Amino acid sequence: MTQSTHVPLPAGYVMRTWAEEDVEAVSQLDALVFGPDSWSHEIFRHEYRASTEQNPHSFYQVITYGGVVIGFAGLLYGPPFADVTTIGVHPDHTAQKLGAALLVWLMDTAQELGAMDILLEVRADNTRAQRLYTDNGFEHIHTRPKYYPGGIDAWVMRKRLRQRGPSSAVALTDKE
Ligand SMILES: CC(C)(COP(=O)(O)OP(=O)(O)OC[C@H]1O[C@@H](n2cnc3c(N)ncnc32)[C@H](O)[C@@H]1OP(=O)(O)O)[C@@H](O)C(=O)NCCC(=O)NCCS
Repeated sequence: MTQSTHVPLPAGYVMRTWAEEDVEAVSQLDALVFGPDSWSHEIFRHEYRASTEQNPHSFYQVITYGGVVIGFAGLLYGPPFADVTTIGVHPDHTAQKLGAALLVWLMDTAQELGAMDILLEVRADNTRAQRLYTDNGFEHIHTRPKYYPGGIDAWVMRKRLRQRGPSSAVALTDKE
């Protein structure tokens, strides 16, 4: 099984699995980076409970700087697919490959879980996020018209992690 190339974090940044005490900070950061598209605090509490179950299907990591949460990402595994539930970096910390480090963790986790594909939704006008995804092998496969408040379309993007084969699924290498 091939792992994506690990993205080293700049000095002072730490990436780790979120803890209960991070839920409030993640919820506030989510409101900052997503504005009207942000989730309620209760949704994050639900996600935290789901991520700490016996056999979890939800997985979350945070990035901290000086102990403060400045980035987060989540994955939901519903075999055979994995869905990116969210990914965000504080505006004061963008353009340092922190989003890339979170995306690589999402892709590697989906691969380790055995997912065939990893999928996500992105606003049609979010060109920065789309570039991050296409840089990592995601393709725009479908459009949901007027999905977001204000009538913005949603792009569904997918990265294949395993080849469909007659007998068994074969992990795809980055070269394919
Ligand atoms: C979208 C978002 C997460 C991107 O985060 P970011 O930390 O600014 O992005 P990054 O700096 O990691 O990504 C771009 C850079 O990483 C590089 N990169 C991308 N994939 C890489 C990889 N696998 N390995 C190494 N570098 C990589 C790109 O080349 C680019 O480098 P450059 O700036 O030198 O051209 C952030 O802008 C954000 O939180 N936006 C608001 C919320 C949002 O829109 N989330 C997405 C919803 S779908």
